[in-house]
Amino acid sequence: MSGVLSSAREALNPLRQLTIDQLRQRTSLKWREYPDDVLPLWVAEMDVPLAEPVARAITAAVARGDTGYTAGTAYPQALAEFARRRWDWDGLAVERTALVPDVMHGVVEALRLVTEPGDAVVVNCPVYPPFYEFVAHAGRRIVEAPLGGDLRIDLGALEDAFRQARAGGRPAAYLLCSPHNPTGVLHTADELAAVADVAERHGVRVVADEIHAPVVLGGARFVPYLSVPGADNGLSLMSASKGWNLAGLRGALLIAGPAAAGDIARVPFEASASTSHLGVIAHTAALRDGGEWLDALLVGLDDNRRLLSALLAEHLPAIRYHPGQATYLAWLDCRALGLGDDPATVFLDRGRVALNSGLAFGTGGAGHVRLNLATAPELIIEAVRRMATAVA
Ligand SMILES: Cc1ncc(COP(=O)(O)O)c(C=O)c1O
Repeated sequence: MSGVLSSAREALNPLRQLTIDQLRQRTSLKWREYPDDVLPLWVAEMDVPLAEPVARAITAAVARGDTGYTAGTAYPQALAEFARRRWDWDGLAVERTALVPDVMHGVVEALRLVTEPGDAVVVNCPVYPPFYEFVAHAGRRIVEAPLGGDLRIDLGALEDAFRQARAGGRPAAYLLCSPHNPTGVLHTADELAAVADVAERHGVRVVADEIHAPVVLGGARFVPYLSVPGADNGLSLMSASKGWNLAGLRGALLIAGPAAAGDIARVPFEASASTSHLGVIAHTAALRDGGEWLDALLVGLDDNRRLLSALLAEHLPAIRYHPGQATYLAWLDCRALGLGDDPATVFLDRGRVALNSGLAFGTGGAGHVRLNLATAPELIIEAVRRMATAVA
């Protein structure tokens, strides 16, 4: 790449805009949980400025004093258009969507629609830790279907889990993480169709958490679960939250396939009514006008993914890392380092770098850490330097 082109690319990269001193001014979880000598590459927040179209939309709302209750269908309309443009999918019907306060509350509402207290919810471990916590909070039971050795969905394990979940003829749900957190695996259309088939045969209802859908790297294409054959009675949760770093401006959509229209009609008023109007404005602006910003972000994340691979190969070759095609999360298998079940503690205590402990991600998480790539390349270089020092 010519020097001019590469500096233009750097100028656009949202991951290169903020200094560490600016980031330390932030008051959200990522930069506040640990003391200042710790480099925090853990919780899924991104070290980026707010995308300009989003900042404009919420600034204008604040200037209008437009901070009341939310109304209208602008958010699902913006998502339906985004889905058409990005994923070539026009099956998102605005009338089969419900506003929910955020993705995890939407997951709970979806599980309440298709299961009863005490019923089973199948998850592919290792998986996003709140899946365990929110399912328990909703009074449902987790049944684990471990990912295969290649970190992809293991259909045999899924069938076993479905059988166990449906024992006695009870209703059961499958909480699919697509793309998968923490591995960054992007499920293919064939894999999702196979999932829909197995779920149908076992009478298990699928709830797909697709929060990371906009964050797909290197030209790969996300496949919405509801777009695959056999997924008609599925439910999905989508949001602009991960793609544009809007966790502080909460808002998500619960989306039903055609055969689940009756279910979504039962979403209680109090679930949708708790959604933040400013959040809805922010998410709508991101999906409608934030495409260029997202593209620049994805280029930066792709560079970071390659940078991390190269750095690990050079400085910590015992760590196994299979870069996923999606999310900004890197799942690192540290078992060969001999640091025990919780290497994150060693990296924190000896290296002063905060990563997520794999233990929280369920069976298969021991000996692993999750690293958040959504930061400046310099901070990834520094994190790997610190990790290498911790095990030297
Ligand atoms: C798979 C997954 N689902 C849900 C969430 C949280 O979404 P929300 O803050 O909208 O509840 C995250 C956050 O990182 C996530 O990775």
